Amino acid sequence: MTFQPELLESCRRDTPGASQRIHFNNAGAALMPRQVLEAMQQHLSLEMQMGGYEAAAFARRDIAGFYGAVARLLNTEPRNIAFAGSATDAYNKALSAIPFEPGDFILTTNDDYVSNQIAFIQAERRFGTRVIRAAALPEGGVDPDSVEQLVRKHKPKLVAVTHMPTNSGLVQPIEAIGQICRQHNCLYLVDACQSAGQAPLDVQRIHCDFLSATFRKFLRGPRGAGFLYVSSRVLDQGLAPLFLDLHSADWIASDAYQLHPDAYRFELWERSYALVLGSKAAAEYALQIGLDNIQARVRLLAATLRERLADIPGLRILDRGSERSGIVSVHAPGRKPLPLKIALEAQRINSSISSHNAALIDFDDKGVDWALRFSPHYYNSEAEVDAVVNAMKALVS
Ligand SMILES: Cc1ncc(COP(=O)(O)O)c(C=O)c1O
Repeated sequence: MTFQPELLESCRRDTPGASQRIHFNNAGAALMPRQVLEAMQQHLSLEMQMGGYEAAAFARRDIAGFYGAVARLLNTEPRNIAFAGSATDAYNKALSAIPFEPGDFILTTNDDYVSNQIAFIQAERRFGTRVIRAAALPEGGVDPDSVEQLVRKHKPKLVAVTHMPTNSGLVQPIEAIGQICRQHNCLYLVDACQSAGQAPLDVQRIHCDFLSATFRKFLRGPRGAGFLYVSSRVLDQGLAPLFLDLHSADWIASDAYQLHPDAYRFELWERSYALVLGSKAAAEYALQIGLDNIQARVRLLAATLRERLADIPGLRILDRGSERSGIVSVHAPGRKPLPLKIALEAQRINSSISSHNAALIDFDDKGVDWALRFSPHYYNSEAEVDAVVNAMKALVS
């Protein structure tokens, strides 16, 4: 399937919000298609009528289908998928499973997500680990040679890379880094929060041990839902999050428990099944359109927007790297971002602001203290790109 005009029209018909406003904040939270809302409403209604436990038992086949749908997104098996409350929830569970010892290295990049950077600093304080960051290439993005050199020198316990950073249009070479991790036997954690639903992800090619993401962004699912992929290698080594519950393990003697054999050991028993079913509907919707198809359209819209914004005097495009994502980040020297965002909102255009402390290293390097972020999705139209460009021209020229 390619992105024919009929497909765009049907996606827009499925997306009531698309007729209300120009939503270029898909990197924040996308507009949900009605199928996602309906899946959640149906389950909440069942809970109201039958009782929460009874509704979960009634919907058990559909609920089990969540794992299959996410596994298909990643080219893996359902047993390697855990539901999570958010990308950070998934990420921190993965971190908590790693038996860090004083002196262990965590190797990451300058562009990894802010919360991940905070967690690495916390690990330094709590476990005596050390964070090192690989050098960047002159054109932006991490240098895989620097990763390799640091891996050889420090033998890090963990290599952690954010695939598509939140604050710029960069795409990091996660497959090349995965090869290095496999060769040197380091654990590899990929933050795919912005790429899940935006681009194809194949964990067999990425060679990661963990991969975390949310549903609310490019997957167009509900808020409060995410997932963690855990490799069979890690499961077979017996790694498990701190702490467990009666779902993630069985209590088998007064002083013993047995871990769940699958990635369910990274979940807790209680969760919102409406969110699980909404997430399943979102994953299935993305699979139906096709991730290659989605990626091609997102790239096209973002590249057009980037190019046209670059022509506006008074605007500076901040995106770097040899490969670019659906995130377009701009800066207007001498201006404040909030009045710009508010003026766009008045024209029913959604954007978002990245602040300095969301991207300390990157923004210092670029010499800016904020960015305005536009993030179109496949259901956005060329006419919407025109409208955003015209609005920005009028605001900054
Ligand atoms: C790259 C990246 N990683 C992680 C997160 C955190 O996701 P969540 O808020 O679902 O924990 C975000 C959120 O913007 C992100 O952009």
